[in-house]
Amino acid sequence: MSLTVLGIESSCDETSAAVVRGRHVLSNVVASQMEMHQIWGGVVPEAAARAHVESIVPVIHQALNEAGVRPNELDGIGVTHCPGLVGALSVGVTAAKTLSLVWDKPLVGVHHLHGHLVSPRAVLADSSEPERSLPFPYLALLVSGGHTELVEVRGPLEFQLLGQTIDDAAGEAFDKGARLLGLGYPGGRAIQERARTGRADRYLLPRALKDDPTRFSFSGLKTAVLRLVEKEGEQLNIDDAAASLQQAIVDALAQKTLSVLESGSYRALTLVGGVAANELLRETLRQGAEQLGARFACPPLSLCTDNAAMIALVAEIRLAQGERDDLSLDCASSVPI
Ligand code: KG4
Ligand code: ZN
Repeated sequence: MSLTVLGIESSCDETSAAVVRGRHVLSNVVASQMEMHQIWGGVVPEAAARAHVESIVPVIHQALNEAGVRPNELDGIGVTHCPGLVGALSVGVTAAKTLSLVWDKPLVGVHHLHGHLVSPRAVLADSSEPERSLPFPYLALLVSGGHTELVEVRGPLEFQLLGQTIDDAAGEAFDKGARLLGLGYPGGRAIQERARTGRADRYLLPRALKDDPTRFSFSGLKTAVLRLVEKEGEQLNIDDAAASLQQAIVDALAQKTLSVLESGSYRALTLVGGVAANELLRETLRQGAEQLGARFACPPLSLCTDNAAMIALVAEIRLAQGERDDLSLDCASSVPI
């Protein structure tokens, strides 16, 4: 039996609420704080928490309305309680606890990364694609502004961390590189756009830890871009630099991921998190996976960036297993997968 679940997400800079029924997403409302954080060139935790306070109730209200679901029809509430900015997480967790108490609905706390990892299993209302059924175990590359993780997905909620970054996340590498090239924040999309007309082989940038598929490192890349900017000065071709940077990040991610895919007995590879928006990364992994005879799945963009549908999806699985959290549910800035 599939449950109807309200999901709430406020771990970073998006306030989101969603309603799912089983794996079907009935609504997924996201209020982004991007414009506000652009002014400072990054996420300011105190400002993020305040913006969540402003948005959280209207966003939840809208998610229920768009789904056409009344509170008494819900089977439970799922909320991101880790990892993330604690002040930001507290806003969602407090809202979820309050609604759980007032509506007398079970509550479950959800690990944000579990949300990203189950996101390819969501079924969107407007999607003409058939329901995805990925064979376990499959490999997942999770890449966002705060995360770079290679994970073996063994079951609906069974995860084994295989590799991660030892310094910057892949999204951070795009963002920091973009800042050095004067392309603003967040930088991933801007790098991709400028790279379209650039030459990726123009500037040589490092691919760190080439022979170690379980460790990623991007801090050296940032230093290399800084050196490049200083060395070339006015002569620097921004399009070529963007293309070279994008290629270096994608090469590092793809080479390690595909080598793990090849050495394991995986029949599928998924790409999740905000950096999955990168077209070169998607295509490189798609082609690489297909060459190895594995299926490639990447959720639509609305499910790649932070959203509450993926949180509701995890909560639905856990509630169906009879799991519950009580009102002492706490927030934590970092918790392993
Ligand atoms: O998952 P997400 O929305 O937020 C979290 O970090 O949790 O990911 C945001 C990250 C940013 O670093 C942004 O620069 C990157 O995803 N990003 C991209 C692209 N679009 C967004 N990176 C590369 N290419 C893109 N097209
Ligand atoms: Zn995220």
